[in-house]
Amino acid sequence: FKGEKNLLSEKKERFSSAGFIFAAIGSSVGLGNMWKFPYITGENGGAAFFLLFIVCLVLIGLPVLLAELAIGRSGRGSAATAFVRAGGGKSWMAVGFLQVLAPFLILSFYIIVAGWTLNYAMIAFNGQLFSSSNYAGEFNSFISGPMPIVWQGIAILITACVVILGVSGGIEKFNKVLIPGLVVLLFVLMIRAVTLPGANEGVAFFLKPDFSVLTAESALVALGHAFFSLSLGMGILLTYGSYVDKKQSLGTAALAVGAGDLLYAFIAGLIIFPTTFSFGIAPDQGPSLIFIALPAAFSAMPFGAFFGGLFFVLLAIAALTSAVSLLEVPVSFAMERWNWSRKRSVWILSLVCFILSVPSAMSLGMFPELSFGGKALFDWVDFVTSNIMLPLGGLLVTIFAGYFWKGAAEAAGLKAGWFRVWLFMLRYVAPILVFLVLLHTSGIINF
Ligand code: PHE
Repeated sequence: FKGEKNLLSEKKERFSSAGFIFAAIGSSVGLGNMWKFPYITGENGGAAFFLLFIVCLVLIGLPVLLAELAIGRSGRGSAATAFVRAGGGKSWMAVGFLQVLAPFLILSFYIIVAGWTLNYAMIAFNGQLFSSSNYAGEFNSFISGPMPIVWQGIAILITACVVILGVSGGIEKFNKVLIPGLVVLLFVLMIRAVTLPGANEGVAFFLKPDFSVLTAESALVALGHAFFSLSLGMGILLTYGSYVDKKQSLGTAALAVGAGDLLYAFIAGLIIFPTTFSFGIAPDQGPSLIFIALPAAFSAMPFGAFFGGLFFVLLAIAALTSAVSLLEVPVSFAMERWNWSRKRSVWILSLVCFILSVPSAMSLGMFPELSFGGKALFDWVDFVTSNIMLPLGGLLVTIFAGYFWKGAAEAAGLKAGWFRVWLFMLRYVAPILVFLVLLHTSGIINF
């Protein structure tokens, strides 16, 4: 196939072992942990949902994560060719293409939200955020104006600058500094949050389960989010896996990434719920929770501008480490397929992504005409990628690794007992549950 000769294993770039783990955690820790996880946990009743999320992450997320890393490492190509190079038939190439297109589309709306967080960091630090108390009005007038386009431009520019420096010189270094830094600073915010008056109620909401609130729907939301949060089904771990050394144990890496992702979600929960409860704010306000409810809380807190600014800076960092992984997937594809240099791939793809993102941003206010069937273009891109392409991609990975991949045992490098457990999950458990998630998120089944 086209590009077969490029990116041959000898000339491919490599992560160091620790660098790879940090980069994979950097990809998984993002807006999903700090923006989406708190609001869906808030909407689905708190602690019981969190437990469900952990179960999904461990039982389904980790096996699929390991499968993607193993396919990526044995294929040693871009996500588009990973399945074929790892030993799949030609028709698996189509699945590969899906996994290149999906992250590119996700990136086009992800940088919009990353841009919002950059803006919020700035206006929190300079106090402008707290100058009126109409946070909902402020948020809505911001996202419906032209400024988000400037901020999303800045977000993609930072992402491009990191990716252009390459796998070990850019992506690895960026994550090795920011991911440990992020956890330390989040800790500071967590201590602030849990020592607020009335914080206990928020802690209990997040950690004391009431199973009577769970529904079948929350189970599917939890599993869908485990996929999103671990960056599965998007070609990312296929691509990162292709930069991993033969000696690296992929089982250990999968465990480390799962644990890292969970830790950040746990800390994010312990920041957001104590804060919102302490200030009497309901936790079930949906996607605007952190942009509307949290500023209200920070404004009433001593040194709120500092803690608020810190929160949004951390959010921006988490978003950018994920954006870097999203951009690397199509970049690796362009280098392989079209034999472009890294520099050229990064600039062209970033520019195209930016151009694609502009109508999405404008659909939120400036051009309400960019809505179809009652949904803004922005929401459509999110819906099609997160709700359809991502579970579909994940489903195809489980089917490939569970049923069609002869090299699975060797590539995964697991001990015989663990290998049987892994294969069982990939064959009989994950595909069924992920298929249900797909039916649910695409709106085919409703509860
Ligand atoms: N995992 C990232 C997060 O939690 C987002 C993401 C999803 C990144 C899918 C890449 C692919 O925010």
